Amino acid sequence: MASPYAIRILGDPVLRQRASDVTDIDGRLAALCQDMYLTMYEAQGAGLAAPQVGIQKRFMVYDLGAGDGPQVLINPVITESAGECEFYEGCLSLPGLRFDILRPSSVNVTGLNLEEQEVEFEADDFLGRLMQHELDHLNGVLLIDHLDEDQQRAAKKSLRKLSMGSSAAVDGIDAELGLSSRPKFGLFRSR
Ligand code: NI
Repeated sequence: MASPYAIRILGDPVLRQRASDVTDIDGRLAALCQDMYLTMYEAQGAGLAAPQVGIQKRFMVYDLGAGDGPQVLINPVITESAGECEFYEGCLSLPGLRFDILRPSSVNVTGLNLEEQEVEFEADDFLGRLMQHELDHLNGVLLIDHLDEDQQRAAKKSLRKLSMGSSAAVDGIDAELGLSSRPKFGLFRSR
């Protein structure tokens, strides 16, 4: 079955907005989640946040591939975090890119499930990383915001190569990465 949604990619303003709390946990939301599962599986992703399919609401779907099946987490909050580790992270909204990103190694997460029950759990390893990554999406934060300058340059190069093609897309990448389009040398030398 074809995916019901196109995954939004870097440059789409919806990825940069803070999503609002889910207020109604109802059949409509459950149906949206079903559609998002399909989209996530088709893209071979482990997690998908609502803004990635253009829905500005605070929920995510995920599947760790451990046989538990797809999960939903609504209005998630990280209440505690501890440790620090690097993880080779990718994002369906940044196709083809992966980077070593440093984040807390374990987090405590609370939220709601589709039955409107409160859930709370500690997440480390892959789940911990996934939670932090998807929660970022709900706040309009993308993987590239965690990159250091060298990684940003590499990302920009890769994105140009993968080329989303048009010069508008390349300008969008410049803007997203916060890189100056002014020449580094000459009149506009900035450092
Ligand atoms: Ni992502």
